Amino acid sequence: MIARVLVIGIVALSGVVLALNVDEWFDPVQVRARNFLPAVGYQPDIALGQSRYQEVCARCHGVSLNGSSEGPPLIDATYAPAHHADLSFYHAVKNGVKQHHWQFGDMPMLTGLTPGQVSDIVLYVRKNQQLAGIQ
Ligand code: HEC
Repeated sequence: MIARVLVIGIVALSGVVLALNVDEWFDPVQVRARNFLPAVGYQPDIALGQSRYQEVCARCHGVSLNGSSEGPPLIDATYAPAHHADLSFYHAVKNGVKQHHWQFGDMPMLTGLTPGQVSDIVLYVRKNQQLAGIQ
């Protein structure tokens, strides 16, 4: 009897909790924030992307995006948009990358960047790839 009351109580309570959270859970703004993506309509800024890249990524991926002893070049067919979509950049920053394409070791996850700032960096990297003929 007590067990049944408890179960009904828990089911009822979780219903209330779900109902309270469901709007927030499916809210597109919340969904994108949770998934570490910039807000819909965010306009990336290439100049900000350049300075942020130089500040955070260049020590491994190279000042000219040509790689270093710590990391691979991003101007490389491996990282063409068709091979590594923009999503892989957000994922790399948020979660880090296990060594799989190269022999530089893992890329650590990077804290302190917002999805918008990553979007700026992606624009800067894509522009430089294009200039180098990597489409
Ligand atoms: C401490 C060194 C280091 C820093 C700092 C670093 N990376 Fe990396 N990154 C790596 C290494 C090493 C790899 C290659 C892993 C492999 O595939 O073997 C990599 C791979 C990547 C990849 C490919 C991910 C994939 O799915 O294969 C992307 C995209 C990337 N980095 C973006 C960035 C950006 C953007 C920044 C700056 C915000 C950054 N990295 C900073 C070391 C670094």
